[in-house]
This record gives sequence, structure tokens and C-alpha cells, in this order.
Amino acid sequence: MSEITNEIKNEIKKRRTFAIISHPDAGKTTLTEKFLLYGGAINQAGSVKGKATAKHAVSDWMEIEKERGISVTSSVLQFNYDGFCINILDTPGHQDFSEDTYRTLMAADSAVMVIDASKGVEAQTRKLFKVCTMRHIPIFTFINKMDREAMDTFELLDDIENELGIATCPVNWPIGSGKEFRGVYDRNTKKVELFSDTQKGTTQGEVRKIDINDPEIDSLITEDQKNQLEEEIELQDGAGAEFDQELVSKGELSPVFFGSALTNFGVETFLQHFLAMTSSPLPRKSDDGIIDPMKEEDFSAFVFKIQANMNKAHRDRIAFMRICSGKFEAGMDVFHIQGGKKVRLSQPQQMMASERHMVSEAYGGDIIGVFDPGIFSIGDTLTTSAKRYAYEGIPTFAPEHFARVRQVDTMKRKQFIKGINQIAQEGAIQIFQEYNTGMEEIIVGVVGVLQFDVLKYRLENEYNVEIRMDSLPYEYIRWIANEEVDMDKLSGTSDMKKIKDLKGRPLLLFVNEWSVRMTQERNDGLILEEFGRS
Ligand code: G4P
Repeated sequence: MSEITNEIKNEIKKRRTFAIISHPDAGKTTLTEKFLLYGGAINQAGSVKGKATAKHAVSDWMEIEKERGISVTSSVLQFNYDGFCINILDTPGHQDFSEDTYRTLMAADSAVMVIDASKGVEAQTRKLFKVCTMRHIPIFTFINKMDREAMDTFELLDDIENELGIATCPVNWPIGSGKEFRGVYDRNTKKVELFSDTQKGTTQGEVRKIDINDPEIDSLITEDQKNQLEEEIELQDGAGAEFDQELVSKGELSPVFFGSALTNFGVETFLQHFLAMTSSPLPRKSDDGIIDPMKEEDFSAFVFKIQANMNKAHRDRIAFMRICSGKFEAGMDVFHIQGGKKVRLSQPQQMMASERHMVSEAYGGDIIGVFDPGIFSIGDTLTTSAKRYAYEGIPTFAPEHFARVRQVDTMKRKQFIKGINQIAQEGAIQIFQEYNTGMEEIIVGVVGVLQFDVLKYRLENEYNVEIRMDSLPYEYIRWIANEEVDMDKLSGTSDMKKIKDLKGRPLLLFVNEWSVRMTQERNDGLILEEFGRS
């Protein structure tokens, strides 16, 4: 292996790639806009999703996606700040998200969780969070909307700890909330960053910091607020977890920040700490050992998302890949491991909100989308290395809705099978069969019910096949991790269903969690998993 060039090393060292997650309306878009504003990527923060008009454009885009039956876009935004090159992976904030949302997290090196200070942890955050913990990536918490009435600070921290099972370490502490919000106290520097409501809109505003022991503080916060702050800090110092970088890096301790994205308050402070507490792209596992971006000169990447039919006339697809090592140059030839041949990566692009633009070069840590003539699958590896290694696959995430699907016209069986297989290959749906029968009955599993509509629409429009869907009562799916299990002898609850995936691997479907537990208890040694390993 030849030496990695300094150019590549320096570029990768600058990279930070994180996913931003939140429950809809917690302020993810607003916070992202403000990050871009500090990075100077756009002049007006509103360009991501501005007021009325721009917002309208975004929802139109989603309508189109829905109509065409493609999954809701997650975009990748890139900006520079203080010598760093930062990639934000936006996860679709829909109530009805798809498996793509999970997969996006597989491409990130850390996650930023935005929480509405008046609401605490909400359902969607919980689900996404599981994936972050599975990957042991650092998780940062930004508690937003402090300019509105907020929940008690301890309650918010407890909520995160209890609901998500992760220890928290507040880096700063809020002084009041809503109309009484005065700013945040930095527990390390002992300075108060003063809130001023004049920072509204698109300007960055002046940040004023004052030492907590400076006499002027008494004219800025009330005596009650000061007393309360002192009490709370004392309590937190005594009972809360101490900051520990190692635990943060392993995803076991979440640094917490308070702010108000709308008024630009606390955003830059957050960004600065975030950059100091995260690392550049880390080594990743492959079937030929660990690939370290600081040592590996060759380009390598894996596909984590496939976006279908952006242009229906051409049936094109875009494969989004996370670059893990080396340098990408437009039009370069790479080896597609799973396909077993060389391919040219053409029309490379990055997504800027809902706009796409071409890229000529990119480095480890970056995300690019390339034209896919229908050859890539989720999890595929591409590399220029002669070693031909494959990155660890992306797990299959448990669908929560199931339906039996069949074509209305029996003569169209072939198109039906082709269509449903192609759509499954893109990762929008998962398909299964009855355990003991052939391909006759097809069971489709999806993470969000919207995907059922997508499937129906796409089969009708792209493959000219009308289908019938009968929903099934199952909500829980489990993969069987131990191969030696005899499926015929396995005894479960009466409502349990035995199925297999396309690779013939056995799975179980359950109506409720109780049945999962019962089956587990009745079969000694049975290992049931919520993620399907590839
Ligand atoms: P999302 O991407 O997580 O779904 O949330 P988004 O940023 O779109 O924010 C949801 C709403 O919350 C928006 O209001 C936004 O202006 C508001 N918001 C975001 N951050 C803050 C904050 O720090 N303080 C306050 N008070 N509000 C905040 P909207 O009325 O739905 O939209 P808009 O008309 O203001 O754009």
C-alpha cells in the first residue's frame, strides 16, 4: 500500500459528519439553518426553509416525491466553519418515516439530537436513538426553544436519561425560560452568556459573556434567578455525571446544551463545543480488517441510500454513498465489490436542501450521490484499492407494519415479482415469504405505512401491475441469530408466524411484545434480534 498523501490526510482531518435528529417541530430545520449561517454557506438563514415561499417549495417537493412514490428526501448539507468541513445529514422529520431515516444514521460519525424544551423526549427521537446507541456514536443534545416556557431543567435531563437510557452532562445551564430567559451559564468557564432577543432573524448577533462573580451580573439577572442558579449548579455538580470525553466518544454520555435556534442563541457555542468534542472520520470495519482513513490512501465508500426515479422518464436512481477513505474525483473508475466489476461514478452530486449540485472532488467523511443504472444495493462497497474489501453491511431494521401482497391479474406475475424485488433492493420495503411455501405468497414489511402507498403507486405506474394488499396484524419482527435452531420444532405463541427473507433466513412475526417474550421463554437458548444482519 502506498503512503497516503498529506493533502488527503489534511482534508479528512477537517471533516465532521453528523446526523441531526429530532421529533418534528423541535427546531431541527431552524438549527440547521443557523449552522449554515455561521458557516457562511448562505447569506440568509432562510434559504434552507425560509418563511412562507421557501417553505412552500419544500412541501411541494415532498408532494412530488409522494406522487412519484419515492421516499422523502434526506438531504446532506456541507459547510465550512473555523477550518472544519462539516457535513450535516438531515433525517426526514416525518411522522411516517421510512427505513432510510435509520440508514442515514449509519453514514454519520455522530448525532445531534434536538429537543423542544417544553416537550422533552418524544416518540420518534426514541426510535432513532436506538440506532445511535447500537452504533456507539457520540450523541449531542441541543435543548431548543428556551425563549419559550420550558420544562424544569432537571426534569428534562431525567427525561433523556430515563427515556433513552444515556447519561447526560449539561455543558451549560439555563437561567430562566420564556419571558424570563436570561441566558446560559457555562459550567466550565463560570461565565454567563447573555440572551438578547435582538438577535432574531438572520444576523449572527453579538455574544456577550460575563463572569458570574462580576457585580454587573446583579443588574442583568434577578436575585431569585441567581440564587436558583447557584442551588441548581450545586445540586448538579454533586449528583450529575462529570464530563468524560471517553464516554462521550463511546456514546455513553451525552453533552447537553441549552439555546434558542430561532433567536440564534447558543448555536455557535454549541458548534464550537461540538467540534472540540468530536473527531474526524474514524476507522471502519471491513471483511479485510479495519480501514483507517488516516492510513488508507485509496478511495472507498459504501452505499447507504438509494433514491429511485428522480426522473421517471429515465428510470434513474441515485445511490448515496458515504466516503470512508481517500479522495473521490468526478468520473473516476472504481471497483464495485458486490457487482464484481469496475464502474465509473458519473454525475456526482451533493444535495443542498432540495437542490442538487455537481461535485468534482470529495474526501473521506463526505457524502455524495452518484447516478445508479440499477446496479447498486444498500450496503455495497466501492473502492479503488487492489485489496477488494467490503465494508460491514448495513443492518435491516425491523419493519412495524406488514401486509400480504398479490397481483390482481395472474398473467402479470413476472412483472410483479420483478417490480417488488427491485423496490425491495432499493430498501424502501422488505419482502418475506411464508416459511414453508414457495414464492406464491409475498409478505411486505415497512417501517412507516406511507411506504405501502409508495409500493402500490410504483407498481402501478412503473411496472403496470395492479396489486391487492391485505394488512396483517403483526407489529414485531425478530431475526433468529442462532443458526442451529430447528424451525419446525420451535414452539411459539398461537399468534406467532414463521416466515423467511429472500436469503431464506428464518424470522418470526408477533402481534405484541408479550408473545415475543413468551416465545423466548419457551425456547431455551433462542436468540431473537431486532436488527437483521446482512
Ligand atoms: P423541525 O425542522 O424540527 O420540524 O422544526 P422547525 O425548525 O421547522 O421549527 C418548527 C417551528 O418552531 C417553527 O415555527 C420554528 O420557527 C419554531 N422554532 C424553532 N426554533 C425555535 C426557538 O428556538 N424558539 C421558538 N420560539 N421557536 C422556534 P413555525 O411557526 O412552524 O414556522 P415558521 O413560520 O416560524 O417558519
